[in-house]
Amino acid sequence: MAVQRRPRVMVSRPDLPGNGVDLLAERCDLVEWRGDLPPGPEELRELVRGCDGALVLGNDPVDTAFLRAAGDALKVVALASVGFDAVDRNAVREHRVVATHTPAAPVETTADVAMALILMARRRLGRAMDSLRRGEWRVFRMDDHLGLDVQGAVLGLVGYGQIARAVARRAAGFGMQIQHYDPYGPGDLFSREVGLEELLRTSDVVSLHVPLTPATAGLIGAQELAMMKPTATLVNTARGGVLDEEALLAALRAGALHSAGLDVMAAEPRCDPADPLFAEPNLVVLPHVGSATEATRAEMVELAARNLLAVLDGAQARTPLPG
Ligand code: DGY
Repeated sequence: MAVQRRPRVMVSRPDLPGNGVDLLAERCDLVEWRGDLPPGPEELRELVRGCDGALVLGNDPVDTAFLRAAGDALKVVALASVGFDAVDRNAVREHRVVATHTPAAPVETTADVAMALILMARRRLGRAMDSLRRGEWRVFRMDDHLGLDVQGAVLGLVGYGQIARAVARRAAGFGMQIQHYDPYGPGDLFSREVGLEELLRTSDVVSLHVPLTPATAGLIGAQELAMMKPTATLVNTARGGVLDEEALLAALRAGALHSAGLDVMAAEPRCDPADPLFAEPNLVVLPHVGSATEATRAEMVELAARNLLAVLDGAQARTPLPG
């Protein structure tokens, strides 16, 4: 049922790009987080108390405690993210709250970063730039900074949803051969479907594109990494929890893997700067910038705001969480 009075809506970050928050402000009284650091679970609970709607990010925990703190007025939690692993969907259902996300908005932008990581790791571009910054560019040597070609290499996509398909289109342009493993998604012209083990054993680049769920947590561990070619590259732009990072570090140090590229880490965003992964020369790490362009982030926030307002108006959200 539509909310009659001016609704109260919490927004969990002070710095959201685009006009999404302005759209909300026209119609709602906003309770906005103003801290320099993101709110922790307790602060989120305080913020959402008595609200009709909440606009949050994908890593803000939306669980029973959050929903109870909100109280009966809460109708909608709108995520400005595609991933919803921090949402307890059973609890959301029990509390009769609609939860929404932004599935299409970050697809192309995130696929760009996956492709960039493939190129950086394969061609050792991060290492080359580091050496330049250390003042080591004095001579041209034919055997310096040698990487591996992507042209002709086999790309194995683990998960074949929208982002993986966008990576496949890019990779085809780079002359890569593409295969994928996805027990749920249908194939297409770009890619051939294989089992996970075959994919790991036969791919030159393995790129992860599965959501983090109980079934995919730790999907790629020591055993899976050991199946990969020693000349292979692993890329993760999905969620840190899908990959065993310690096993990855061990594989890179042992030379059992050529290189890796990560845009996500299990402990993000509060990573330890002394994490040995950051010092590993054959690893390129980015601070979760997959969807970080002005246009995409603005689109994500605007879609989240429109979803939220639709539910408060008693209408259907454009992009509710699946299932
Ligand atoms: C998402 O949308 O889930 C990304 O990981 C954050 O941009």
